[in-house]
Amino acid sequence: MKTIAQIREDALNELNAAQDSETIRNLSVRYLGRKGVVTQFLRNISALPPEERPQAGKKANELKIELDQAFEAALKKLEDASAADDRIDVSLPGRPAYCGVLHPLTQITRQICDIFARLGFDIAEGPEVESDYYNFEALNTPKDHPARDMQDTFYVSDNIVLRTQTSSMQIRFMENHTPPVRIIAPGKVYRCDSDITHTPMFHQVEGLLVDENISFGDLKGMLTTFVHQIFDDQTSLRFRPSFFPFTEPSAEVDILCVMCRGKGCRVCKQTGWLEVLGSGMVHPAVFENVRYDTDKYTGFAFGMGVERIAMLKYGIDDIRRFFENDFRFLRQF
Ligand code: DAH
Repeated sequence: MKTIAQIREDALNELNAAQDSETIRNLSVRYLGRKGVVTQFLRNISALPPEERPQAGKKANELKIELDQAFEAALKKLEDASAADDRIDVSLPGRPAYCGVLHPLTQITRQICDIFARLGFDIAEGPEVESDYYNFEALNTPKDHPARDMQDTFYVSDNIVLRTQTSSMQIRFMENHTPPVRIIAPGKVYRCDSDITHTPMFHQVEGLLVDENISFGDLKGMLTTFVHQIFDDQTSLRFRPSFFPFTEPSAEVDILCVMCRGKGCRVCKQTGWLEVLGSGMVHPAVFENVRYDTDKYTGFAFGMGVERIAMLKYGIDDIRRFFENDFRFLRQF
């Protein structure tokens, strides 16, 4: 009798200490299996004095049932606990799905195009692999001009280049249209250049307006309107004399530094001004190349870098951010 009580106590103590289902299953085998402690006990009952056998058999069978139930119950409890861990907590906030956004350069290009569309400009697009003629020659850029240096231009062959400027669209458009002309040409351009403000591929928007009686005053008015809309109408601008082969006179447009408002800072290199556009009155030699009557027509043209405008608008200091496809950067716009 003592032995049965002892077996029971040992088994229940061990079961109490068991932490996982594998230990419990092993216990079950050790006590109730074919060679288990309880089974052995039952098998040895015949060795007891005859008068003790019925009691011992009864007690041992009862213990067998009790332990079997205890092991089962313990296993079930463990299973229920792990199922509870897997359950979905419907009160937790949901995980938001990522929503796509337009690339910041696409957004800025569209803003630029929208502003000029409201000013009556059409959009003209053309090839990025361009002939030397459209990219340089017809734009009054002679063969020995520094802009054609091998350093800057990607040559596909002697007479084919990756366009270095969207100005090529001036010629392509004028060849097929008679004045009045009002177009902007957005697109990719390529130059052999790479540092924190230059990438080998970048984006420009070119503009061209040709009609009778177009003066430098029209150019100033149009570009002032544009700058006030793309930045804000408090942005002062200045027209600084410059040189481009395809315009005469030429001017670069500077805006008062958007960071320091003219006080001088790192972004404007202490000058208080930022260069945002090239522009000028279309050179008569360009008109002659497309057989426009230079006595009748005048016009102005301009070109700007989309990355540069985006960097100034958003305060981005490294142009390469636009092309690394880092979601943490892109999702901010
Ligand atoms: N194509 C020039 C560049 O890439 C920008 C430019 C300057 C365009 C003056 C023009 C212009 O149309 O008139 O630097």
